[in-house]
Amino acid sequence: MAEPERLHVTAPEGDYDIFIEPGLIERIPARVTGIGLGERIIVATNTTLAPLYGERLAATLPNAAVVTMPDGEQYKTLDTVAQLYADFAAAGLDRVGTVIALGGGVVGDTVGFAAATYMRGVRLIQMPTTLLSMVDSSVGGKVGVDLPQGKNLVGAFKQPDAVLVDPAVLATLPEREWRCGMAETIKHGFLNDPQLLELASYRQGFSGPDDAVQLVRRAIQVKIRVVEADPYEHGVRATLNLGHTFGHAIERVSHYSWLHGEAVAVGLVAAARLSYKIGLCDSDLPGQVEEIVRATGLPTRFGDLDPQAIYDAMATDKKWQSGKSRFILLRSIGQPEIVSGVDPVAVLDVLTSLR
Ligand code: NAD
Ligand code: GLY
Repeated sequence: MAEPERLHVTAPEGDYDIFIEPGLIERIPARVTGIGLGERIIVATNTTLAPLYGERLAATLPNAAVVTMPDGEQYKTLDTVAQLYADFAAAGLDRVGTVIALGGGVVGDTVGFAAATYMRGVRLIQMPTTLLSMVDSSVGGKVGVDLPQGKNLVGAFKQPDAVLVDPAVLATLPEREWRCGMAETIKHGFLNDPQLLELASYRQGFSGPDDAVQLVRRAIQVKIRVVEADPYEHGVRATLNLGHTFGHAIERVSHYSWLHGEAVAVGLVAAARLSYKIGLCDSDLPGQVEEIVRATGLPTRFGDLDPQAIYDAMATDKKWQSGKSRFILLRSIGQPEIVSGVDPVAVLDVLTSLR
Protein backbone atom coordinates (compact mmCIF):
# COMPACT_ATOMS: atom_id res chain seq x y z
CA MET A 1 0.00 0.00 0.00
CA ALA A 2 1.32 3.48 -0.88
CA GLU A 3 2.38 5.82 1.91
CA PRO A 4 -0.18 8.39 3.15
CA GLU A 5 0.26 11.87 1.67
CA ARG A 6 2.66 13.71 3.93
CA LEU A 7 3.06 17.50 4.04
CA HIS A 8 5.74 19.16 6.15
CA VAL A 9 5.24 22.32 8.21
CA THR A 10 8.14 24.38 9.50
CA ALA A 11 7.30 26.08 12.79
CA PRO A 12 9.38 28.02 15.34
CA GLU A 13 8.64 25.64 18.23
CA GLY A 14 9.20 22.54 16.13
CA ASP A 15 8.34 21.20 12.68
CA TYR A 16 5.56 18.68 12.17
CA ASP A 17 3.95 16.63 9.43
CA ILE A 18 0.39 16.45 8.15
CA PHE A 19 -0.68 12.95 7.08
CA ILE A 20 -3.64 12.65 4.68
CA GLU A 21 -5.24 9.31 3.83
CA PRO A 22 -8.81 7.99 3.56
CA GLY A 23 -9.24 5.31 6.24
CA LEU A 24 -6.29 6.59 8.32
CA ILE A 25 -8.36 6.58 11.52
CA GLU A 26 -8.49 2.76 11.43
CA ARG A 27 -4.73 2.22 11.14
CA ILE A 28 -2.71 5.01 12.68
CA PRO A 29 -0.02 2.86 14.36
CA ALA A 30 0.76 1.14 11.05
CA ARG A 31 0.56 4.19 8.79
CA VAL A 32 1.89 7.09 10.82
CA THR A 33 5.59 6.88 11.51
CA GLY A 34 8.04 9.18 13.16
CA ILE A 35 5.76 10.97 15.62
CA GLY A 36 6.21 8.71 18.65
CA LEU A 37 2.98 8.40 20.59
CA GLY A 38 3.44 9.04 24.32
CA GLU A 39 2.91 6.61 27.18
CA ARG A 40 -0.72 7.45 27.95
CA ILE A 41 -2.91 8.54 25.04
CA ILE A 42 -6.06 10.58 25.52
CA VAL A 43 -8.50 10.76 22.61
CA ALA A 44 -10.31 14.00 23.45
CA THR A 45 -13.44 14.52 21.39
CA ASN A 46 -17.07 15.57 21.74
CA THR A 47 -20.24 13.65 22.58
CA THR A 48 -21.28 13.44 18.88
CA LEU A 49 -17.96 12.13 17.61
CA ALA A 50 -17.07 9.74 20.45
CA PRO A 51 -19.55 7.06 19.32
CA LEU A 52 -18.91 7.77 15.61
CA TYR A 53 -15.11 7.71 15.65
CA GLY A 54 -13.60 8.24 19.12
CA GLU A 55 -14.13 4.77 20.54
CA ARG A 56 -12.92 3.16 17.29
CA LEU A 57 -9.80 5.31 17.22
CA ALA A 58 -8.97 4.56 20.86
CA ALA A 59 -9.38 0.81 20.22
CA THR A 60 -6.60 0.94 17.60
CA LEU A 61 -4.11 2.63 19.95
CA PRO A 62 -2.13 1.28 22.89
CA ASN A 63 -3.09 2.56 26.35
CA ALA A 64 -5.72 5.01 25.10
CA ALA A 65 -8.75 6.47 26.91
CA VAL A 66 -11.57 8.60 25.51
CA VAL A 67 -12.48 11.92 27.12
CA THR A 68 -15.46 13.94 25.85
CA MET A 69 -16.64 17.53 25.93
CA PRO A 70 -20.15 18.68 24.97
CA ASP A 71 -20.78 19.55 21.29
CA GLY A 72 -21.07 23.18 20.23
CA GLU A 73 -19.34 26.57 20.09
CA GLN A 74 -21.12 27.50 23.37
CA TYR A 75 -18.87 24.95 25.11
CA LYS A 76 -15.64 26.45 23.77
CA THR A 77 -15.04 27.93 27.23
CA LEU A 78 -12.69 27.98 30.19
CA ASP A 79 -15.24 25.86 32.12
CA THR A 80 -14.84 23.11 29.52
CA VAL A 81 -11.06 23.44 29.73
CA ALA A 82 -11.25 23.02 33.52
CA GLN A 83 -13.33 19.86 33.05
CA LEU A 84 -10.82 18.56 30.48
CA TYR A 85 -7.96 19.08 32.97
CA ALA A 86 -9.91 17.04 35.54
CA ASP A 87 -10.63 14.30 32.99
CA PHE A 88 -6.99 14.23 31.85
CA ALA A 89 -5.84 13.81 35.46
CA ALA A 90 -8.45 11.13 36.18
CA ALA A 91 -7.33 9.23 33.06
CA GLY A 92 -3.71 9.29 34.24
CA LEU A 93 -2.29 11.74 31.70
CA ASP A 94 1.16 12.94 32.74
CA ARG A 95 3.89 14.96 31.05
CA VAL A 96 4.98 12.12 28.77
CA GLY A 97 1.46 11.45 27.51
CA THR A 98 -0.24 12.58 24.30
CA VAL A 99 -3.61 14.21 23.65
CA ILE A 100 -5.32 13.57 20.31
CA ALA A 101 -7.92 16.29 19.58
CA LEU A 102 -10.49 14.49 17.44
CA GLY A 103 -13.16 16.80 16.04
CA GLY A 104 -13.93 20.05 14.28
CA GLY A 105 -12.47 23.44 15.08
CA VAL A 106 -14.30 23.68 18.39
CA VAL A 107 -12.71 20.49 19.74
CA GLY A 108 -9.34 21.34 18.14
CA ASP A 109 -9.23 24.82 19.70
CA THR A 110 -10.55 23.84 23.15
CA VAL A 111 -8.69 20.56 23.60
CA GLY A 112 -5.62 22.15 22.02
CA PHE A 113 -5.70 24.92 24.65
CA ALA A 114 -6.10 22.35 27.43
CA ALA A 115 -3.13 20.38 26.04
CA ALA A 116 -1.06 23.58 25.75
CA THR A 117 -1.56 24.39 29.44
CA TYR A 118 -2.05 21.05 31.28
CA MET A 119 1.21 20.41 33.16
CA ARG A 120 2.64 23.37 31.17
CA GLY A 121 2.01 21.55 27.94
CA VAL A 122 1.73 17.96 26.75
CA ARG A 123 2.08 16.48 23.29
CA LEU A 124 -0.84 17.33 20.98
CA ILE A 125 -2.00 15.61 17.81
CA GLN A 126 -4.75 17.31 15.82
CA MET A 127 -7.17 14.91 14.09
CA PRO A 128 -9.65 17.20 12.31
CA THR A 129 -13.05 15.81 11.28
CA THR A 130 -14.72 18.77 9.52
CA LEU A 131 -13.65 20.24 6.19
CA LEU A 132 -13.03 23.55 7.96
CA SER A 133 -10.75 22.03 10.58
CA MET A 134 -8.86 19.98 7.96
CA VAL A 135 -8.05 22.96 5.75
CA ASP A 136 -7.73 25.64 8.40
CA SER A 137 -7.93 25.30 12.18
CA SER A 138 -5.82 22.16 12.72
CA VAL A 139 -2.78 23.75 11.04
CA GLY A 140 -0.79 26.71 12.34
CA GLY A 141 -0.95 26.25 16.10
CA LYS A 142 -3.70 28.66 17.17
CA VAL A 143 -5.68 27.20 20.08
CA GLY A 144 -8.04 28.90 22.50
CA VAL A 145 -11.50 29.48 23.85
CA ASP A 146 -14.19 32.15 23.88
CA LEU A 147 -15.08 34.50 26.75
CA PRO A 148 -18.52 36.05 27.37
CA GLN A 149 -16.87 39.24 26.03
CA GLY A 150 -16.03 37.72 22.63
CA LYS A 151 -14.78 34.87 20.49
CA ASN A 152 -11.26 33.46 20.81
CA LEU A 153 -10.24 36.01 23.44
CA VAL A 154 -8.07 33.53 25.41
CA GLY A 155 -5.55 31.38 23.63
CA ALA A 156 -2.04 30.29 22.85
CA PHE A 157 0.16 29.10 20.05
CA LYS A 158 0.60 25.35 20.47
CA GLN A 159 2.05 23.62 17.46
CA PRO A 160 0.80 20.05 17.11
CA ASP A 161 3.23 17.12 16.96
CA ALA A 162 1.28 15.94 13.92
CA VAL A 163 -1.98 16.53 12.07
CA LEU A 164 -3.81 13.37 10.96
CA VAL A 165 -6.40 13.91 8.23
CA ASP A 166 -8.79 11.12 7.26
CA PRO A 167 -11.06 12.53 4.52
CA ALA A 168 -13.31 9.44 4.78
CA VAL A 169 -14.84 10.86 7.99
CA LEU A 170 -16.32 13.70 5.90
CA ALA A 171 -18.96 11.20 4.75
CA THR A 172 -20.89 11.76 8.00
CA LEU A 173 -20.43 15.54 8.13
CA PRO A 174 -23.77 17.39 7.83
CA GLU A 175 -24.00 19.07 4.42
CA ARG A 176 -24.42 22.53 5.93
CA GLU A 177 -21.07 22.05 7.74
CA TRP A 178 -19.46 20.83 4.50
CA ARG A 179 -20.50 24.07 2.79
CA CYS A 180 -19.07 26.10 5.68
CA GLY A 181 -15.75 24.33 5.15
CA MET A 182 -15.99 25.22 1.47
CA ALA A 183 -16.15 28.91 2.43
CA GLU A 184 -12.70 28.68 4.06
CA THR A 185 -11.45 26.47 1.22
CA ILE A 186 -12.35 28.95 -1.49
CA LYS A 187 -11.01 31.75 0.74
CA HIS A 188 -7.65 29.98 0.50
CA GLY A 189 -8.10 29.87 -3.28
CA PHE A 190 -8.78 33.62 -3.44
CA LEU A 191 -5.73 34.31 -1.28
CA ASN A 192 -3.12 32.16 -2.85
CA ASP A 193 -4.23 29.38 -5.21
CA PRO A 194 -6.51 30.24 -8.14
CA GLN A 195 -6.42 26.57 -9.27
CA LEU A 196 -8.06 25.53 -6.02
CA LEU A 197 -11.11 27.48 -7.13
CA GLU A 198 -11.59 25.06 -10.03
CA LEU A 199 -12.35 22.37 -7.44
CA ALA A 200 -14.87 24.65 -5.73
CA SER A 201 -17.99 23.06 -7.13
CA TYR A 202 -17.13 19.69 -5.53
CA ARG A 203 -20.04 18.47 -3.50
CA GLN A 204 -19.84 16.17 -0.53
CA GLY A 205 -20.50 12.57 -1.51
CA PHE A 206 -20.35 13.46 -5.20
CA SER A 207 -16.66 12.83 -5.60
CA GLY A 208 -15.81 10.65 -2.59
CA PRO A 209 -12.85 10.70 -0.24
CA ASP A 210 -10.14 10.21 -2.88
CA ASP A 211 -11.13 13.42 -4.65
CA ALA A 212 -11.57 15.13 -1.30
CA VAL A 213 -7.87 14.38 -0.72
CA GLN A 214 -6.99 16.64 -3.65
CA LEU A 215 -9.22 19.47 -2.43
CA VAL A 216 -8.03 19.21 1.16
CA ARG A 217 -4.35 18.92 0.19
CA ARG A 218 -4.39 22.04 -2.00
CA ALA A 219 -6.27 24.06 0.62
CA ILE A 220 -3.90 22.96 3.41
CA GLN A 221 -0.90 23.91 1.27
CA VAL A 222 -2.15 27.51 1.18
CA LYS A 223 -2.47 27.56 4.97
CA ILE A 224 1.02 26.06 5.34
CA ARG A 225 2.55 28.74 3.09
CA VAL A 226 0.93 31.52 5.11
CA VAL A 227 1.71 30.22 8.63
CA GLU A 228 5.29 29.35 7.71
CA ALA A 229 5.80 32.92 6.46
CA ASP A 230 4.22 34.52 9.54
CA PRO A 231 3.68 32.05 12.41
CA TYR A 232 2.64 34.65 15.01
CA GLU A 233 0.44 36.87 12.80
CA HIS A 234 2.66 39.93 12.61
CA GLY A 235 1.72 40.47 8.98
CA VAL A 236 0.60 38.22 6.14
CA ARG A 237 -1.21 35.69 8.40
CA ALA A 238 -3.88 38.37 8.93
CA THR A 239 -4.88 37.84 5.29
CA LEU A 240 -6.46 34.54 6.38
CA ASN A 241 -9.21 36.82 7.70
CA LEU A 242 -10.38 37.66 4.16
CA GLY A 243 -14.17 38.00 4.38
CA HIS A 244 -14.10 37.65 8.17
CA THR A 245 -14.59 41.29 9.24
CA PHE A 246 -17.90 41.31 7.38
CA GLY A 247 -18.54 37.67 8.31
CA HIS A 248 -18.15 38.03 12.09
CA ALA A 249 -20.51 41.02 12.03
CA ILE A 250 -23.13 39.09 10.04
CA GLU A 251 -22.87 36.21 12.54
CA ARG A 252 -23.37 38.56 15.48
CA VAL A 253 -26.25 40.52 13.97
CA SER A 254 -28.01 37.26 13.03
CA HIS A 255 -27.58 36.14 16.67
CA TYR A 256 -25.54 33.23 15.31
CA SER A 257 -28.41 31.74 13.29
CA TRP A 258 -25.94 32.17 10.40
CA LEU A 259 -23.06 29.72 10.67
CA HIS A 260 -19.53 31.08 10.44
CA GLY A 261 -18.86 29.74 6.93
CA GLU A 262 -22.16 31.11 5.60
CA ALA A 263 -21.35 34.55 6.97
CA VAL A 264 -17.79 34.39 5.62
CA ALA A 265 -19.21 33.52 2.19
CA VAL A 266 -21.17 36.80 2.04
CA GLY A 267 -18.09 38.46 3.55
CA LEU A 268 -15.99 37.28 0.59
CA VAL A 269 -18.47 38.86 -1.82
CA ALA A 270 -18.50 42.05 0.28
CA ALA A 271 -14.69 42.20 0.37
CA ALA A 272 -14.53 41.88 -3.43
CA ARG A 273 -17.13 44.63 -3.88
CA LEU A 274 -15.30 46.91 -1.45
CA SER A 275 -12.02 46.23 -3.25
CA TYR A 276 -13.58 47.49 -6.48
CA LYS A 277 -15.34 50.39 -4.76
CA ILE A 278 -12.05 51.81 -3.47
CA GLY A 279 -10.27 51.25 -6.78
CA LEU A 280 -8.07 48.36 -5.68
CA CYS A 281 -9.12 45.80 -8.30
CA ASP A 282 -10.65 45.75 -11.77
CA SER A 283 -14.37 45.54 -12.43
CA ASP A 284 -14.44 41.77 -13.18
CA LEU A 285 -13.39 40.65 -9.74
CA PRO A 286 -16.64 41.11 -7.75
CA GLY A 287 -18.62 39.07 -10.30
CA GLN A 288 -15.97 36.32 -10.41
CA VAL A 289 -15.92 36.02 -6.62
CA GLU A 290 -19.70 35.97 -6.40
CA GLU A 291 -19.99 33.25 -9.05
CA ILE A 292 -17.49 31.01 -7.24
CA VAL A 293 -19.24 31.49 -3.89
CA ARG A 294 -22.59 30.67 -5.50
CA ALA A 295 -21.16 27.51 -7.14
CA THR A 296 -20.43 26.07 -3.69
CA GLY A 297 -24.08 26.49 -2.62
CA LEU A 298 -23.20 29.23 -0.13
CA PRO A 299 -25.20 32.47 0.28
CA THR A 300 -24.08 35.67 -1.47
CA ARG A 301 -26.55 38.05 0.23
CA PHE A 302 -27.46 38.62 3.88
CA GLY A 303 -31.14 39.25 3.17
CA ASP A 304 -33.12 41.14 5.78
CA LEU A 305 -30.28 41.88 8.23
CA ASP A 306 -29.74 45.61 8.79
CA PRO A 307 -26.64 47.01 6.97
CA GLN A 308 -26.14 49.71 9.64
CA ALA A 309 -26.27 47.08 12.41
CA ILE A 310 -23.66 45.04 10.52
CA TYR A 311 -21.46 48.12 10.16
CA ASP A 312 -21.79 48.90 13.89
CA ALA A 313 -20.91 45.29 14.76
CA MET A 314 -17.80 45.51 12.56
CA ALA A 315 -16.63 48.60 14.41
CA THR A 316 -16.14 46.51 17.58
CA ASP A 317 -14.27 43.71 15.79
CA LYS A 318 -10.95 42.86 17.46
CA LYS A 319 -9.25 43.03 14.07
CA TRP A 320 -9.93 46.78 13.89
CA GLN A 321 -7.02 48.55 15.48
CA SER A 322 -7.40 51.66 17.71
CA GLY A 323 -10.88 52.23 16.29
CA LYS A 324 -9.57 52.34 12.70
CA SER A 325 -11.25 50.05 10.16
CA ARG A 326 -9.07 47.26 8.82
CA PHE A 327 -10.10 45.03 5.94
CA ILE A 328 -8.45 42.25 4.00
CA LEU A 329 -9.21 43.10 0.38
CA LEU A 330 -8.14 41.77 -3.02
CA ARG A 331 -6.09 43.43 -5.76
CA SER A 332 -6.82 40.33 -7.82
CA ILE A 333 -7.31 36.63 -7.18
CA GLY A 334 -4.11 35.54 -5.45
CA GLN A 335 -3.17 39.08 -4.36
CA PRO A 336 -4.67 40.04 -0.98
CA GLU A 337 -3.99 43.39 0.64
CA ILE A 338 -4.50 44.68 4.20
CA VAL A 339 -6.23 48.08 3.96
CA SER A 340 -6.83 50.39 6.94
CA GLY A 341 -9.03 53.45 7.34
CA VAL A 342 -11.56 52.69 4.57
CA ASP A 343 -14.23 55.39 4.12
CA PRO A 344 -17.30 54.27 6.15
CA VAL A 345 -19.61 55.49 3.36
CA ALA A 346 -18.00 53.03 0.91
CA VAL A 347 -18.42 50.19 3.41
CA LEU A 348 -22.07 51.05 4.04
CA ASP A 349 -22.72 51.30 0.28
CA VAL A 350 -21.33 47.80 -0.18
CA LEU A 351 -23.43 46.47 2.69
CA THR A 352 -26.57 48.07 1.30
CA SER A 353 -25.90 46.45 -2.09
CA LEU A 354 -25.86 43.00 -0.47
CA ARG A 355 -29.34 42.93 1.07
P1 NAD B 1 -17.47 22.42 14.87
O1 NAD B 1 -16.20 22.01 15.49
O2 NAD B 1 -18.51 23.03 15.74
O3 NAD B 1 -18.10 21.19 14.08
C1 NAD B 1 -19.34 21.36 13.44
C2 NAD B 1 -20.33 20.25 13.80
O4 NAD B 1 -20.02 19.08 13.05
C3 NAD B 1 -20.30 19.82 15.26
O5 NAD B 1 -21.62 19.57 15.69
C4 NAD B 1 -19.49 18.54 15.24
O6 NAD B 1 -19.80 17.65 16.31
C5 NAD B 1 -19.91 17.95 13.91
N1 NAD B 1 -18.94 17.08 13.29
C6 NAD B 1 -17.61 17.29 13.17
N2 NAD B 1 -17.07 16.36 12.40
C7 NAD B 1 -18.04 15.52 12.03
C8 NAD B 1 -18.07 14.36 11.23
N3 NAD B 1 -16.99 13.91 10.58
N4 NAD B 1 -19.25 13.71 11.11
C9 NAD B 1 -20.38 14.19 11.71
N5 NAD B 1 -20.41 15.30 12.44
C10 NAD B 1 -19.25 15.96 12.60
O7 NAD B 1 -17.21 23.49 13.69
P2 NAD B 1 -15.95 23.79 12.75
O8 NAD B 1 -16.51 24.57 11.64
O9 NAD B 1 -15.14 22.61 12.48
O10 NAD B 1 -15.02 24.74 13.65
C11 NAD B 1 -15.42 26.04 14.02
C12 NAD B 1 -14.46 26.53 15.08
O11 NAD B 1 -13.14 26.59 14.53
C13 NAD B 1 -14.78 27.92 15.60
O12 NAD B 1 -14.75 27.90 17.00
C14 NAD B 1 -13.64 28.78 15.07
O13 NAD B 1 -13.33 29.86 15.91
C15 NAD B 1 -12.52 27.78 15.01
N6 NAD B 1 -11.44 28.12 14.06
C16 NAD B 1 -10.17 28.08 14.53
C17 NAD B 1 -9.12 28.36 13.68
C18 NAD B 1 -7.70 28.23 14.18
O14 NAD B 1 -6.77 28.62 13.46
N7 NAD B 1 -7.49 27.71 15.37
C19 NAD B 1 -9.34 28.70 12.33
C20 NAD B 1 -10.67 28.71 11.88
C21 NAD B 1 -11.72 28.42 12.76
N1 GLY C 1 -7.44 32.75 11.47
C1 GLY C 1 -6.83 31.51 11.15
C2 GLY C 1 -5.37 31.49 11.44
O1 GLY C 1 -4.71 32.49 11.53
O2 GLY C 1 -4.83 30.44 11.60
